[in-house]
Amino acid sequence: MPTIYQTLRTDHDRHRDLLSKLARTQGDSADRRKLWQTFYFDVSAHAAAEELSFYSKLISESEGQPEGRHSVAEHHELEEMIQGLHEMEFRSPGWLARFKSLKGRYEHHIEEEGEDIFGEAKEVIGADPNGQIAAEFVMLKTQERSKVDEKAGQAIED
Ligand SMILES: [Fe+2]
Ligand SMILES: [Fe+2]
Repeated sequence: MPTIYQTLRTDHDRHRDLLSKLARTQGDSADRRKLWQTFYFDVSAHAAAEELSFYSKLISESEGQPEGRHSVAEHHELEEMIQGLHEMEFRSPGWLARFKSLKGRYEHHIEEEGEDIFGEAKEVIGADPNGQIAAEFVMLKTQERSKVDEKAGQAIED
């Protein structure tokens, strides 16, 4: 079983790849729709599960609180940007500019997680050698995914 750090990095790499592919899309194209849906649902579930499994543990230790709170605040900011873009028409001329500012913010966020936060967290909550936190993350992410799918289903019915 990979550790929580490896598991989160795998997600981050997938997000980076989706972001660079999305930056090359144009207008209301099948590519843009498909890549955005994948990014939107995966990142939403990732962030929620990351908070519940990983940041909750980091924040429960006083040494981990500043980093933990900082990241969770960034999640809120990113969530707003992502939701704003999600509600925008794909064909809108401003879509790509707005997407690019989200891309920059998100890349900054995962870079900081990978470069600063994980190192600090290893000291505070441990290296997760048996992948216990990773298993919790995967389970919670699946749960979050099905919640989003339900919401998306309801939106279609409405
Ligand atoms: Fe995050
Ligand atoms: Fe993350």
